[in-house]
Amino acid sequence: MSATIVLGAQWGDEGKGRVVDYFAETADYVVRYQGGNNAGHTIIVGEQRLALSLIPSGIHYPDCTPVIASGTVIDPAVLLAEMDMLSEKNLDTSRVRLSSNAHLIMPYHRKLDAAIERYLGQNQIGTTKKGIGPAYTDKYSRFGIRVQDLFDPKIFAEKVEAALEEKNKILPRVYNTLPMDADDIVTEYLGYAERLRPMVTDTSLLLHEALREGKNVLFEGAQGTLLDVDHGTYPFVTSSNPTAGGAVVGSGIGPKAIDEIVGVAKAYISRVGTGPFPTELHDEVGDTMIELGGEYGTVTGRRRRCGWLDLVALRYAVRVNSLTKIFLTKMDILSAFDTIKVATAYRSGAERYDHFPSQQSVLYHCEPVYEELDGWGDDITGVREFGDLPKAARSYVEYVQEATEAPIGWVSVGPERSQLIEIT
Ligand code: GDP
Ligand code: IMO
Ligand code: MG
Repeated sequence: MSATIVLGAQWGDEGKGRVVDYFAETADYVVRYQGGNNAGHTIIVGEQRLALSLIPSGIHYPDCTPVIASGTVIDPAVLLAEMDMLSEKNLDTSRVRLSSNAHLIMPYHRKLDAAIERYLGQNQIGTTKKGIGPAYTDKYSRFGIRVQDLFDPKIFAEKVEAALEEKNKILPRVYNTLPMDADDIVTEYLGYAERLRPMVTDTSLLLHEALREGKNVLFEGAQGTLLDVDHGTYPFVTSSNPTAGGAVVGSGIGPKAIDEIVGVAKAYISRVGTGPFPTELHDEVGDTMIELGGEYGTVTGRRRRCGWLDLVALRYAVRVNSLTKIFLTKMDILSAFDTIKVATAYRSGAERYDHFPSQQSVLYHCEPVYEELDGWGDDITGVREFGDLPKAARSYVEYVQEATEAPIGWVSVGPERSQLIEIT
């Protein structure tokens, strides 16, 4: 039996898609456990680039079953369109399994997401406007509508009408937008039911049995540790738990089932949307990271903010997730710099912070304490053995490993599937 969680150790977009694709070769199941189509996971195989938002990143492997578990929020039109896109690329989507307990993103969630952001003005989160926050809000208010409700048209219509009772007061009165029509929504959503039906199952039971039979199960996090609603840079977070605990809650398996927890971290760091970011760079170095790293959102196309690797934050990710290993991505981008900085602590006034501050305001005002390391300059995109990396690149990896006290098991040196080094 082997159950491995792969999750983001930073603010998302660390390269989880490519890492999950790598591990999925030997996986029987790949499970998305939280989030929705706010995620954008990229896999590049040869010349083919795949951007996935809901379908787990094991889809390339015919023997691997992709599972969308109960902790997710599903926009059915997006899911079906993604499946059509994959079918056009001759990838088999008939094995996709969807939890009957997953919550639905409804049209009023998308509308509210956009309206709330407008309302917040300068204080906006910079959400993906996919309706994620309002869908999770309804879930926790026990007002949510689940995938299983689609298969009882009467109950579904009643739930939509009850939801609109409330939303149609809020939309015009608070957010100055038009009310929505229940019949339109019911007709649209019931139209998805027949296509979804064959996929829908009790995914908790499915995974429990798979683990009991000794199958390999991979859990794929979306977003990242610092976007976690409980442990991230609240309120500039997403509305779910990308951290390791979220994998067990969101999949309906127990924590003792998990064997390995791999944190994916870029060799530098990025964030998209607003919120504090101690090592953010507003200079040519940051611009170079953005341009060479192709740091534009997979979902929204937004320019990502970039900065030097933050070891305070990475140590925090090791701690809150019990990471057993780190997968360091995008090492090739650092080849552009003569010297490379890493933040080892923060300073705010006379105070030094070696641990990630729990007080949000510190994150805004602190200055990173940097250690400067040698760059290597050479193109490393063709390197496949750790020993063949330039000495300064090996030292960089070893430095990060020592600072985080988590073994670095892999380094990637380019976006293509084969561009990685396993460190043994
Ligand atoms: P995810 O959301 O964590 O799956 O990450 P994204 O797919 O949103 O963003 C990561 C981006 O970096 C994608 O465009 C990947 O193709 C790319 N990428 C992943 N690993 C590497 C790497 O080692 N080097 C380079 N240059 N690009 C990479
Ligand atoms: P992947 O899985 C990076 C960010 C948004 C915003 C905040 C809240 O590709 O790493 P939301 O729409 O979730 O309510 O937005 O979270 N965000 C992401 N940033 N990668 C992601 O996903 C993200 N998903 C959401 O930019 O700051
Ligand atoms: Mg992404």
